[in-house]
Amino acid sequence: MDRRSLPPLVFLIISTFPLYASAFKCGSSPVKCQALIDHITPESTTFVEVQTLFAVRNLRTLLGANNLPRSSPPDQKLPAKQTLKIPFPCLCHRGAGISNKRPVYTVKEGDDGLKEIAERVFSGAVTDGAIAAANGISVKDPVKVGQNLSITLPCSCDDVEGMKVVHYGHLAESWSSLEAIADRYGVSVPILMEVNGLKDGSSIRGGQLIDVPIRACNSSIRSDSIDSQLLVANGTYVFTAHNCVQCKCDSANNGRYSASRRELDHRTGRLALRCNVAKGTMPYY
Ligand SMILES: *[C@@H]1O[C@H](CO)[C@@H](O)[C@H](O)[C@H]1NC(C)=O
Ligand SMILES: *[C@@H]1O[C@H](CO)[C@@H](O)[C@H](O)[C@H]1NC(C)=O
Ligand SMILES: *[C@@H]1O[C@H](CO)[C@@H](O)[C@H](O)[C@H]1NC(C)=O
Repeated sequence: MDRRSLPPLVFLIISTFPLYASAFKCGSSPVKCQALIDHITPESTTFVEVQTLFAVRNLRTLLGANNLPRSSPPDQKLPAKQTLKIPFPCLCHRGAGISNKRPVYTVKEGDDGLKEIAERVFSGAVTDGAIAAANGISVKDPVKVGQNLSITLPCSCDDVEGMKVVHYGHLAESWSSLEAIADRYGVSVPILMEVNGLKDGSSIRGGQLIDVPIRACNSSIRSDSIDSQLLVANGTYVFTAHNCVQCKCDSANNGRYSASRRELDHRTGRLALRCNVAKGTMPYY
């Protein structure tokens, strides 16, 4: 049947539903934030290859999200089946959160369709349906070497119980449980169930993508500053836009981040710990 002959409502459902089917819940107003998602290396690789695959602007951003030493060399070898947290900008719109049509994946020799790319290259963190929808193609369409595919990763910007969090798309291990995940990331089981729409007594399977809201450190910067949007997940560090101030979030700091440098606050004339982000830029991605 000719698509144009469908009534508008049917067309709308066909064209938007698959895109949102694999997104996380996210408040209705358009908003951007930072998010994290798991990547399991399909074969041995290097930091810089993972950085390129996900279009992470700075290697330091990738290292910080994994709390790895900032001196780690870009070409350091990573074994197959290694899990890394990938930092990326999240966009919420109409109740769902996705990365904003990035990264872009260029189809390579040996890739065998959207399902294989979703499952092998992106470790199932994205579905073939979501890739198809984001690129206006069908899941069954063959892919061509050199073809560019927008990859929409699921994410959220919602606060949880009034607290700032960084939503982390966690790929559950086969032996894992909600209790184990809750324990490991300092979240409660009821919050995990609520955020993921899970029912009482439901179990999780290996490879299932779980939205884990990780407590974020709190900025001491005044709220009219763009810095007030800076979210630093517990157990991670980030660099600011100019790549000079490192902001670290760990349990030692009581929910505030610590900065690597003091800067003059021109308003008060005092030296302050600052995680300063240039106006008009997305914090650190
Ligand atoms: C895919 O993207 C790359 C990098 O941006 C570009 O060089 C190439 O021409 C694109 N390929 C197609 C088929 O659009
Ligand atoms: C930030 O920290 C202050 C106290 O240090 C606390 O009162 C406030 O609720 C925190 N804000 C968020 C959003 O977590
Ligand atoms: C931060 O993470 C550590 C473990 O990495 C955990 O012990 C602690 O409870 C977490 N803090 C918060 C506020 O979630």
